Amino acid sequence: MSMKRVAVINLKGGVGKTTTAVNIAACLGQKGRRVLLIDMDPQGNATLHIGVRENGKALLNALQSTTPLPVQDTEFSGLQLVPSGYLLSEARERFSKAMGRDLLLRTLKNSGDNWDWVIFDCPPSIEVLTQMALNASDSLIVPVEASFLGLAGLEQLIMILQETFRTDTVKERIMAVVPCRAHPRRRIHDTMMKELNRIFPGKVAPVVRETVALTEAPQAGKPVIYYSGRSAGAKDYRDVTEWLLEKTG
Ligand SMILES: Nc1ncnc2c1ncn2[C@@H]1O[C@H](COP(=O)(O)OP(=O)(O)O)[C@@H](O)[C@H]1O
Ligand SMILES: [Mg+2]
Repeated sequence: MSMKRVAVINLKGGVGKTTTAVNIAACLGQKGRRVLLIDMDPQGNATLHIGVRENGKALLNALQSTTPLPVQDTEFSGLQLVPSGYLLSEARERFSKAMGRDLLLRTLKNSGDNWDWVIFDCPPSIEVLTQMALNASDSLIVPVEASFLGLAGLEQLIMILQETFRTDTVKERIMAVVPCRAHPRRRIHDTMMKELNRIFPGKVAPVVRETVALTEAPQAGKPVIYYSGRSAGAKDYRDVTEWLLEKTG
């Protein structure tokens, strides 16, 4: 089976990128897949969510010398992590967008191919670190907030991706659009879901509801399936993962 390389991307902050990257990675690991989660955001939120504290220097160095990535084992089944931290933000000064874009892919290729899934958590802007992740991935997962502004942000994202890849086949690269932080009983929810299904037929994942366990799990340093296995959040991310596996085989 070939290694899937997936960037979790949206240019908006707070939509659920990190939550989605961490929890899909953990669910895939629990399902017996070998998963590498790469935190490309200098805020290091995915790293903290896994319960790891790091400054990001090792990842910066690896990118600079294209030596193997600083892969760590985690306490979670099937899941390995490349941690990040504030020092990774130096990449913005060190590498230009044009020069930097293929560094991550080269570095990843020098790190072996021991994984079924490699998942990149991206920062919320189109900068060199995001460019690296886009260039290193073969498909995209786009978390989107179920709101009018969420939908507007999605249209912007598609346009920017089209420029980045200089192609209008961006939609084909999208493996899944994941409605996050959803309130299914609000009227806007149905409107939004209809619109998403119209724009991305067959690509809209099961909904992830706004729930307490998902807000609390990062502080505990655990993916939600380990923090509260019976919670709605755990169920929702298991469903999304199951759906992804059915789709991708
Ligand atoms: N479905 C959800 N239910 C409740 N809280 C959520 C949910 N998804 C994300 N959050 C919370 O919202 C905040 C932003 O989510 P995050 O995944 O960090 O977004 P991003 O990476 O896009 O900036 C975090 O505090 C996170 O715990
Ligand atoms: Mg994030």
